[in-house]
Amino acid sequence: MCGIVGVTGNDNAVQILLKGLEKLEYRGYDSAGIYVNDLQGNDYLIKRKGHISNLEAAVGPEVHGSVGIGHTRWATHGVVSVANAHPQFSEDHRFYLVHNGVIENYKELKATYLSDTTFASQTDTEVVVQLVDHFVRTQNLSTRDAFLKTLGLLEGSSYAFLMIDSLDPDTLYVAKSKSPLLVGLGDGCNVVCSDAPAMLDVTHDFLALHDGEMVTIKPNSVEIIDQNGNAVSRKPFHVDMDPSETEKGTYPYYMLKEIDEQPNVLRKIASTYTKESGEPNFDDKMLSALNQADRIYIVGAGTSYHAGLVGKKMFEKLAHVPTEVHIASEFAYDDPLLSKKPFFIFLSQSGETADSREVLVNVNAKDYPSLTITNVENSTLYREASYTLLLHAGPEISVASTKAYTAQIAVEAVLAKALGEIKEQTIAEDFDIRQQLGFAATGMQAIIDDKGRIENIAKKYFVKAPKAFYIGRGIDQTVSLEAALKLKEISYVHAEGFASGELKHGTIALIEEGTPVVGIITQKKTAALTRSNLQETMSRGAQALTIVRQGLSQPGDTIVTTDINELITPLLSVVPAQLIAYFTSLNKGLDVDKPRNLAKSVTVE
Ligand code: G6P
Repeated sequence: MCGIVGVTGNDNAVQILLKGLEKLEYRGYDSAGIYVNDLQGNDYLIKRKGHISNLEAAVGPEVHGSVGIGHTRWATHGVVSVANAHPQFSEDHRFYLVHNGVIENYKELKATYLSDTTFASQTDTEVVVQLVDHFVRTQNLSTRDAFLKTLGLLEGSSYAFLMIDSLDPDTLYVAKSKSPLLVGLGDGCNVVCSDAPAMLDVTHDFLALHDGEMVTIKPNSVEIIDQNGNAVSRKPFHVDMDPSETEKGTYPYYMLKEIDEQPNVLRKIASTYTKESGEPNFDDKMLSALNQADRIYIVGAGTSYHAGLVGKKMFEKLAHVPTEVHIASEFAYDDPLLSKKPFFIFLSQSGETADSREVLVNVNAKDYPSLTITNVENSTLYREASYTLLLHAGPEISVASTKAYTAQIAVEAVLAKALGEIKEQTIAEDFDIRQQLGFAATGMQAIIDDKGRIENIAKKYFVKAPKAFYIGRGIDQTVSLEAALKLKEISYVHAEGFASGELKHGTIALIEEGTPVVGIITQKKTAALTRSNLQETMSRGAQALTIVRQGLSQPGDTIVTTDINELITPLLSVVPAQLIAYFTSLNKGLDVDKPRNLAKSVTVE
């Protein structure tokens, strides 16, 4: 949520900032801005509403400098406007600041210290930059000390800050608490970014910052101090990623590229987490910690939460371990009753979701074991959990998550199989996960190759529909939630995923002539039941459609997927739904990758 970039010591600052913001645009795209200084007395502040391209169009050739900061915003406090876009600045235009996060006590701070200050925006951020200025002027503090003093006043807040003092412009002042931030080490220059891909053109070596730290960055030095003022020395980590992995190549949208990549991601997971013999291949220590648990708690948000719902079925069926799945934002403050030996699994594509992180902080405080399954190495949830597994899905840029969902399910499946084997469950021993992931990859490819037909289905039934339903039972019901989420988030069709048997207890009242209702049918035990629930909607005028596993198919089914083990059918049944959502959005002329009101990485609670 909100992307931050900064650079000092590079004459190409403008291009570095704009390119970095392009890469971070998935974090927020309602407005953007940069502040650049050439150290010769010239500086530039440019902010625009809308996408980064609007900002780029406004940056003329005269704009130049070697130090600067930039921001792409997802509005929290204050409407979307140029005034509320970042960088925010002090009344006297001395200090410029970009911020990701939320300042909880900004109103109190404003009332206590800044009653005589004229504010230019409605943001919580502006209070911070005005406070720094206030302490420099009224208490004769150095910029660094005023910044530190201000940080000390921000109670319970989440922030990643990057600030420039235009009177001493080659220094970047940086601080972070809860929101992610990295320092990149360049050759004669240093950079700051919310996420490493933003700066891969400058460096592959990064320092992760910890909560409460404050950093002073010059072109040739990086000084970190902790919250007690002690100097911190930290080794950089290397990001081994080809910058082209974050490009969309010849694809019109990242989402289509990411859907297409799914078969290969499954193959990669199979080769990473299983041996050639088919046996799971995990760290023994992690498995032993998992094996000691009397209950598994899966925590996630959005699509990751939905992948957790599938995980629950697999852990319970293959390993016979009771498993609960929790929405991170609910779990964090609800204080649920835990079993005696809980084991936590955090599912997070980005590894940065603030609500999930809040749960992990509490889990760590109680010394419970935890595993983060994430796509981003060195992300916060990756660093702070007891154990980690990477999704190996490659960067996911489109706001609507696709390949991360299937990758999470695949990793959970291998893990559940491993746990089931330790517990000597026959069902797990008989489950050849390596082979099944291979079948799933081939089945996915077949659906993807048939995307022309799926586009026609989207055009015929969804593009003009005001609402739609996905229904199913058991594991199919969990997929119906994800299928509906895909459709609503990028095509704005009001969609619901529903337990098919529950529909008639109220929701069926919404069915009208032509309402698309998609039955997901992959489980033998419930196939006939879901079909009869579909019939009930047809009797009320619904346009019934089906996504069916081949072994259960009947003449007239809409989309038939190949047969794979019933435990992992979500790997296939979700793909047509992803494509229906994609083509509905595309044919409505919407921005598929950057749907309204959303952001990919939700770093505020
Ligand atoms: C946002 C994204 C979703 C994602 C969710 C959780 O809402 O738009 O696509 O599923 O955050 O993100 P995480 O990175 O924790 O999986």
